[in-house]
This record gives sequence, structure tokens and C-alpha cells, in this order.
Amino acid sequence: MSRVFSGIQPSGELHIGNYLGAIRNWVNIQDEHQCIYCVVDYHAITAEYRPKEMPTRIFDLAAGLLACGVDPEKATLFVQSDVPQHTELAWIFNTVTPMGELSRQTQFKSKSEQNLNNINVGLFTYPVLQAADILLYRASHVPVGEDQEQHLELSREIARKFNARYGKVFPEARTMFTSTPRIRGLDGKAKMSKSLGNSIAVDETEKRLRKKLASAFTDPNRVTRTDPGDPKVCNIFTLHGFFSPSETVQEIDGACRKAEIGCVDCKKKLGDAMVGHFAPIRERWAELRADPTQVHEVLNTGRDRCQAIAADTMQRVHRKMGLVR
Ligand code: TYM
Repeated sequence: MSRVFSGIQPSGELHIGNYLGAIRNWVNIQDEHQCIYCVVDYHAITAEYRPKEMPTRIFDLAAGLLACGVDPEKATLFVQSDVPQHTELAWIFNTVTPMGELSRQTQFKSKSEQNLNNINVGLFTYPVLQAADILLYRASHVPVGEDQEQHLELSREIARKFNARYGKVFPEARTMFTSTPRIRGLDGKAKMSKSLGNSIAVDETEKRLRKKLASAFTDPNRVTRTDPGDPKVCNIFTLHGFFSPSETVQEIDGACRKAEIGCVDCKKKLGDAMVGHFAPIRERWAELRADPTQVHEVLNTGRDRCQAIAADTMQRVHRKMGLVR
């Protein structure tokens, strides 16, 4: 069994970009791999936040991941700040990471443009902490969306640099994508992201979900109801592919091309399918919110397992580096 690691920030909502781009993969692979999933709160503090709200955000995201199907009998779920070795290893990795590589990280550029009042060093060294997350567990695979690929490439480079300088401790972790590693937002163009305001949350109420779908962009060349549409360029059609039965997807494909169905009806059908798909998740999430001890127990078990692996890795690191008495 190979070891898998992945993480998600407790910032903003759990949206269907996270769900389709990463979380459903987390769930699908937990039978075949030894999976470790992490709520990365130390990453989330690189953006300004309200400390009073953070405990709820951490808890709620953990509960949401369980509701989406992360199974504590099969996978390990924990909170990053419960395992202090993440930041310890990140410091060590700072000393093998080339400045030039960090300066080329596109997420730093975009995130600092979004946070002009708070361009902190943590935002710059964020990918080093991400490399530490993965390598602390000597993971071989990392299921993520496409936006994380550059960070993962850097994690491989950090592993190579460390191993070359001190001796082999770390594997180079491979990226695992879903069939659609980049889910577009309601604008039909940009990556779905809470900060761009183009997202749909996993636990959206039916009313809000339908309202959001109603405002979503479709085929930009289909101006009037009688224009034939091109499902290939339509984000609503892409979403049908995930949530509607394959016969419906085929029917819509044909009907859209012949202008037999309009965007309003097409969105209505998508709304029906999504409401049905997310109903059990919303229900389970509500149950977990009402019974916090269940979630905390899962996170405590996760913390204990991860602390043991982390201590073992750090012992190897310290030995190789001569940081021993
Ligand atoms: P985060 O919290 O932004 O997103 C969590 C996961 O969701 C994926 N994702 C998407 N996939 C497809 N389409 C989208 N529109 C979309 N939006 C988000 C992300 O790719 C990610 O897989 N830096 C990471 C968290 C992290 C991490 C790690 C990941 C920290 N340490 C170690 C893997 C391994 C992040 O900010 O993800």
C-alpha cells in the first residue's frame, strides 16, 4: 500500500471545486492506499483571519470532509497544528530551498496581488510548508487539483536537494489528478474559488444553489433560446457530467445542439441532480455538527497516528543532518 497525503485549508467554504477536483479522489482511493488527510490551519493563517472564528472553521471543515465520505476506519484525518513537526521540517527545508524557485511560484504572485496589505513572508514560503506536510509522512502520492501542481513540483525538488545533501530520507511524491483537475466557477472561465466569488458550496441550501445556477454562464455564443448551443464549451454541461445520469447527459447533449432545450431548463435539471447528490452529505454534515465529540475523537486519533510517524521521520532527518548529541 502506498502512502497518500493531501491537505485543505480551513478558509472559506468547502466548494464543489474542492469536492470534484480533490475530495472525491480522497474518498475513492482510501481502500487501496494508506491515506492521510489534513486540515492545514497553519497555511490558512497566511491570509488575515479572525482568531475567534478559526476553531469553528477547523471543526466544520473536518466534519464536512467526513460527511463527503472520508472514512476514519480507512483514512487518517487530522489538524496540521496538532503535529508541530510540520513547522520544524519546514524550517529545515527553508535551508535547502532555492530563493529563485520560490520567486517563480505563480500562487505567491496571485495571492499577494489579492492581499496587498498583507504580503507576509509566510505567503512566500507557503510551498515550503506544503513540502514539509507531504514529506513528513514520506508520502508517495498526493491527490490535488491542477492549481497545486507547481507546489508539488517544488516539493519534489526539495526532496531531491535534501537527499543529495544529507542522504536519502524522502521519496518524490507524485501528483494524482481527477478526470477534471480544474473546475470552473459560475463565470464559466476562472477556476472555482471562494475568493473569486464564483463558487458553489457543498452544503448550499436548495434555494441558494438554484439561484447560483440561474446566474451561471453557459455557452457564450448562445445568445437567444433558438440558437443551438455547444455543450463542449458550457460549464453547466460539464457539471451535468458529474451529477446527472449518463442518459440525461446524452439527451441534453443532443437537445442543446438542436436548440430543443434552453439554458434555463438545462440548469433546472442540473439543480435537481445536484440537490439529490448533496442531500445525504448535507444531512450527515448536520448530524456531525450536532455531535462534535465524534469529530474530535477522529481528529485526536489522527493526531496520535501522525505524531508517531512525524517523530520517526524527524529522527531520521536529525541523524542525517548531524543534529544529535
Ligand atoms: P485548497 O485548500 O485551496 O484546496 C483544496 C483542494 O481542492 C483543490 N481545488 C480545486 N480542484 C479543481 N478545481 C478547482 N476549482 C479547485 N479549487 C480547489 C485544490 O487543488 C486542493 O487539492 N495548498 C493547498 C493545501 C495544502 C496541501 C498540502 C495540499 C497544504 N499542504 C499538502 C496537498 C498536500 C491548498 O491551498 O488547497
